[in-house]
Amino acid sequence: MSSMTERAIPAGSLVVVSGANGFIASHVVDQLLLAGYRVRGTVRDAKKSAWLIEYFGAKYGPGKFELIEVPEMAADGAFDEAVKGASGFIHTATPVMVSYDPNEGIPIVVNGTVNALRAAASEPSIKRFVLTSSSTAAISPKPNIEFSADESTWNDEAVKAAWAPPPYEGEQRKLDVYSASKTQGEQAAWKFMKEEKPGFVLNTVLPNCNMGLVLSPEHQGAPSTVGWLKALWNEFKGQEKLKFNPPQYYVNVQDTARVHVGALIFMDVQEERLYDFAYPFNWNDILAIYRKLYPEHKFMDDIPDLGRDLSKVTNERAEEIVKRFGRPGWASLEDSVADAAKGWA
Ligand SMILES: *[C@@H]1O[C@H](CO)[C@@H](O)[C@H](O)[C@H]1NC(C)=O
Repeated sequence: MSSMTERAIPAGSLVVVSGANGFIASHVVDQLLLAGYRVRGTVRDAKKSAWLIEYFGAKYGPGKFELIEVPEMAADGAFDEAVKGASGFIHTATPVMVSYDPNEGIPIVVNGTVNALRAAASEPSIKRFVLTSSSTAAISPKPNIEFSADESTWNDEAVKAAWAPPPYEGEQRKLDVYSASKTQGEQAAWKFMKEEKPGFVLNTVLPNCNMGLVLSPEHQGAPSTVGWLKALWNEFKGQEKLKFNPPQYYVNVQDTARVHVGALIFMDVQEERLYDFAYPFNWNDILAIYRKLYPEHKFMDDIPDLGRDLSKVTNERAEEIVKRFGRPGWASLEDSVADAAKGWA
């Protein structure tokens, strides 16, 4: 086997995926099972997420996927049980834009990340750890401004804005607290690696706006950023705030999952920050796709003065990983929108 296909973790091994019911994490589980791994998913509430056992059991056969409850990831020792006997850990669990107060929103993410790393370090069988970071750990969208970002870029601006004095209110503050939580969470992970030198390799994945198939619309609804697409479908009725999400990059959620699995298993991918960004888009691009795919549905008019994301990011490495899974490259915006819309169209 060449170093391109040689696996750091053999097929059949057990991999922990935290927050397994989430939009990205459920696809990470799906791609891991497809690649022949066994998966232990952590969820806050095992009863609520029991559908995952049924879903993946029906798709890949019984016994390949199991659930374990981790009610509070920030609690000391939260993942100590979950890592027993595992060869890899993909830490995806994160609260998404729920807090205006940095004192609330940031320590949960930092502690959850460190707890996951500490648990993994205590389990000698763990060879690989993949952290789901975020585009916002490196950059915030800046429409119409040319700039570039690479592995050394951190979202220091968001950290500063998030920790600025009160009042803790407004959509921008909420976004900054989320972005800062991902920045500081990822920084804590690299710091842990440097200081503790555990016996595994860390890679991080920085996804931008995820679109694509929802595995179970019945149980997951229109989760996370798929909710943005559904809001646009409904002319933002009742969700006016979502309209202000600026132009940025999309990525297909199944490509995101492939980047995670590649970061976990490919021998040559080591200590990397992977820019999981496909191509830039804005709302009007999606409206054009909607009108083409669903001519019978009436959509809102184009939104004036949206601008464009003009940033350049080092996303070649992540796309190259996607290709190792037999894909031609990043999935298109049209396919990603069409897959998402299957949940309601
Ligand atoms: C995070 O960890 C620190 C240090 O161990 C602790 O003082 C703090 O209470 C924890 N915060 C949360 C939200 O669990």
